[in-house]
Amino acid sequence: MTDNPVVLRARGIDKSYGGVHALADADLEIRAGEVHCLAGANGSGKSTLIKILSGVEAPDRGEIEIAGTVTSKLSVVGSISHGIQVIYQDLSLFPNLTVAENVAMTTRVAGRARIISITAARELTLTVMKRLELDIDPDALLEELSVAQRQLVAICRAIANDVRVLFMDEPTTALTWNEVGTLFQVVSALKADGVAIVFVSHKTEEVFALSDRITVLRNGKVVAVGGVAEFDRDSLVEALIGRQELEERIVSSDVHDSPVLEVNSISAPGLFAEISFTAHAGEIIGLTGLMGSGRSEVADAIFGIIPFTSGRVAVDGHDIRSGDVASAISAGIAYVPSDRLTQGIFLDQAISRNLVASSISSLANKLGWLRPKAIRAGVDKLIDELSLKVGSPDDPVSSLSGGNQQRVVIGKWLATNPRVLVLNGPTVGVDIGSKAAILQILREKAAQGITVLLISDDVPELVSVCHRVLVVRRGRLVDEIASQNVTVEAVRERSIA
Ligand SMILES: Nc1ncnc2c1ncn2[C@@H]1O[C@H](COP(=O)(O)OP(=O)(O)OP(=O)(O)O)[C@@H](O)[C@H]1O
Ligand SMILES: [Mg+2]
Repeated sequence: MTDNPVVLRARGIDKSYGGVHALADADLEIRAGEVHCLAGANGSGKSTLIKILSGVEAPDRGEIEIAGTVTSKLSVVGSISHGIQVIYQDLSLFPNLTVAENVAMTTRVAGRARIISITAARELTLTVMKRLELDIDPDALLEELSVAQRQLVAICRAIANDVRVLFMDEPTTALTWNEVGTLFQVVSALKADGVAIVFVSHKTEEVFALSDRITVLRNGKVVAVGGVAEFDRDSLVEALIGRQELEERIVSSDVHDSPVLEVNSISAPGLFAEISFTAHAGEIIGLTGLMGSGRSEVADAIFGIIPFTSGRVAVDGHDIRSGDVASAISAGIAYVPSDRLTQGIFLDQAISRNLVASSISSLANKLGWLRPKAIRAGVDKLIDELSLKVGSPDDPVSSLSGGNQQRVVIGKWLATNPRVLVLNGPTVGVDIGSKAAILQILREKAAQGITVLLISDDVPELVSVCHRVLVVRRGRLVDEIASQNVTVEAVRERSIA
């Protein structure tokens, strides 16, 4: 791998946004046919570096070498013509167009042919899919596809453009491990063709399974670079956050006998059937299963986003009306949805506003007046607890890095004091240091007597905090792993069987 020719090189890149020094003298070297992991904590500058190498942002200083030419700034069209393609954190596809139209879209934008016929688009799509051994209907509308399929469409679009360097900014956050398998196959097919793949991931297992080489960024600086064999889990974590982080199982024995959340044989046709469990005060219950198993829909139903047609859900003995979010909220349920960037946040509003959006009533005095000092203190405390990397709390959420945006949504719900806290994939896209911080906050919430329902497919995370783990398969609750049996091996084995 180290003998392969360098296809793209960045040297001494600097970039600031106002007072935030996003990149400081950063170097990156990409070789043909390698899988290169760009690693780093939230806000360390990974997405910024990718934007600079794809011509979306201009660096303040530094140079970029591509195909033997050196430049101080790439244009978007220039980078595409050099074979650089990017799959962004948000995919940037068009939901109301078909698969084929999406795949052919940027080949048209790049200007090779002014107009592409539907037939040509379909043929191009089929050729690309064949190369990657994929089978997605080119005529399907994108909005009809799963997130995993959309991801693959984004890759097809990149490949339709004679890609030489493919950047994937957190390609697997929305996928579960079986879909990640398909992505891995696609990556090896591309690699065999000499395409360089640069990917961002916060999952260490994945980094080791995929990468040939790793570059680690911390606070905008490159702190480590080398072949994958030069790292192990501990040294990678140390490079990422400057310290070790253990994923120990720490669960309190302090669960009360009193039932808080009672889910009694609820069904929603086509989604899940006869789901029953009882969660107690101070208990953290994990709900896991493959994507499509119904685990997310069960959570949605508990919070009233999806109606259940039979059965009942109660908090402290009071029934919640099916399909009624207001009734779930007044019963004391808070919900952190999985699709946080569209459901949970106001991107163009201030970080501070977003953080207090859900807890506003507790910050008002008896007359309903808001107390600015209390709000400010609450915001500062959350920023500190979640180690949010912010310039000022008054900046818009859109100025934050992807992982810091996620943490704002989680922080907003952690600031409330519900009876039941339901979280769907709360640490997806969050780096390893702040993941530990979020899990610790969940333990503290439970210690205050709150009942926590954690929907996740991150096995080490479930094992680290959950008293019990429930497994959903094809819409049914098929297994319950009791506290004394909760281990990484047991949960992994029983949730995929
Ligand atoms: N448009 C912008 N305006 C202001 N600050 C920005 C902007 N874009 C990025 N930043 C800041 O630059 C820093 C690096 O952000 P970047 O998005 O590159 O991080 P990242 O490594 O991709 O993190 P994550 O893992 O959370 O996605 C962050 O502190 C971020 O707040
Ligand atoms: Mg990012």
